[in-house]
Amino acid sequence: MSYFAVKGGTKLIGSVNINGAKNSVLPILAATLLNAGENVIHNCTELRDVDSAVKILRHLGCRITRQGKTLTVDSSNIIRCDVPESLMREMRSSVIFLGPILARCGQARLSTPGGCELGPRPIDLHLDALRKLGATVSIDGGEILCRADNMQGRDIVLSFPSVGATENIMLAATACTGATRIINAAREPEIEDLQNFLLKIGANVCGAGRSEISVQGGKTRCRAEHTVMPDRIEAATYLCAAAACRGHIELRDIRPRHIATVISILSDAGCDIKTDTNCVTIKSARRISALPPVQTMPYPGFPTDAQSQLMAAACLAEGTTVFCENIFENRFRQAGELCRMGARIKVSGRTAVVEGTKQLSGASVRCTDLRGGAALVIAALAATGESRIYDIEHIDRGYESMENAYSSLGGSIKRKEE
Ligand code: EPU
Repeated sequence: MSYFAVKGGTKLIGSVNINGAKNSVLPILAATLLNAGENVIHNCTELRDVDSAVKILRHLGCRITRQGKTLTVDSSNIIRCDVPESLMREMRSSVIFLGPILARCGQARLSTPGGCELGPRPIDLHLDALRKLGATVSIDGGEILCRADNMQGRDIVLSFPSVGATENIMLAATACTGATRIINAAREPEIEDLQNFLLKIGANVCGAGRSEISVQGGKTRCRAEHTVMPDRIEAATYLCAAAACRGHIELRDIRPRHIATVISILSDAGCDIKTDTNCVTIKSARRISALPPVQTMPYPGFPTDAQSQLMAAACLAEGTTVFCENIFENRFRQAGELCRMGARIKVSGRTAVVEGTKQLSGASVRCTDLRGGAALVIAALAATGESRIYDIEHIDRGYESMENAYSSLGGSIKRKEE
């Protein structure tokens, strides 16, 4: 069993290159199914979730090679239209394969994704939209069965701007006759990246980044090449780490506007942050002050995926910070583990009140989920003494060798086996 051994208390100083975005590469890999030919995807970070997506594509018949950060997916011969339970369980977001399998094969059979560590994770918006496009959808014995002999484009109004549902509809709509409009679409940058890939395979899509996306069904071409956008949540994670550890870090290869809310809140807390075209520098010379209330919201609001990491920094702030988690039901699970390190956090439903303390102390803690795990690493790096962080397979789902990035900044963190 791997764990991180962290000796806290060192300042983080140096530069980090930000990797390709996990939440962008996953839908783009799913979208390669739409393009029966060679899809060359650059900047694919080595992550457990990316490995799981590759396994699903191989199971469906794609031939895939990896050279460094480039994945080449040849989806000329698709031989199956199902994703078995064992593969669905590896990655909850595998439901993103539903739309493209349906579009490519006219039918799809996936086991239901079920809940996860963040709460129940329903997929009603995905399924309702596919039904509206003309698919027949049934759920039987833990499996979703979809058939679409003649899907017709139409207007789909989302009651909530779900990221995954927006992506699934965009992908399914490429196989519809006529035009589909997604109204109240999610506006996350990863959706723009998906649109950029779809344009490269010849799909007719516009509007990503705004609340209304239009897709005109039609054929795709055969070879496409795309570079995945930088991971805004990885960047936000290192900003929070710098704020907690009084660091001075430069983040390279990022798009600062994607993390504008994180930059703004950390600046309000006293960090000195400068942005350039592809780069952000943060200097946090003193203990940060309490943050303004943090409300997670769909983009362009404050991202739920950075809430836990910011909470780790708030644990050390001067004063009290209130967090309100509006996206997922169960995203404060890191709080209990942070309290083992001396944090003062009270959780009540979707609200957490964090009373900052001068010092955290090292402890043995367990990652509860991906971003909660990232928060524990930040707290351990800032704490006095040694920590052991267990269940780091959660972290490996979304960060490539996180320990190397922190070590390069002077942090004392080692991956060990027990
Ligand atoms: N929801 C429904 N019904 C649906 C779909 C969503 O009620 O049919 C609810 C969810 O239960 C949740 C909320 O809507 O409460 C938001 O879900 P959304 O569909 O927007 O999220 P997602 O597509 O499942 C993606 C990211 C998440 C990120 C969220 C929100 C990927 C692979 N995952 O999930 O990333 O938190 O958007 O921004 O893109 C992470 O990286 O740590 C992570 C969890």
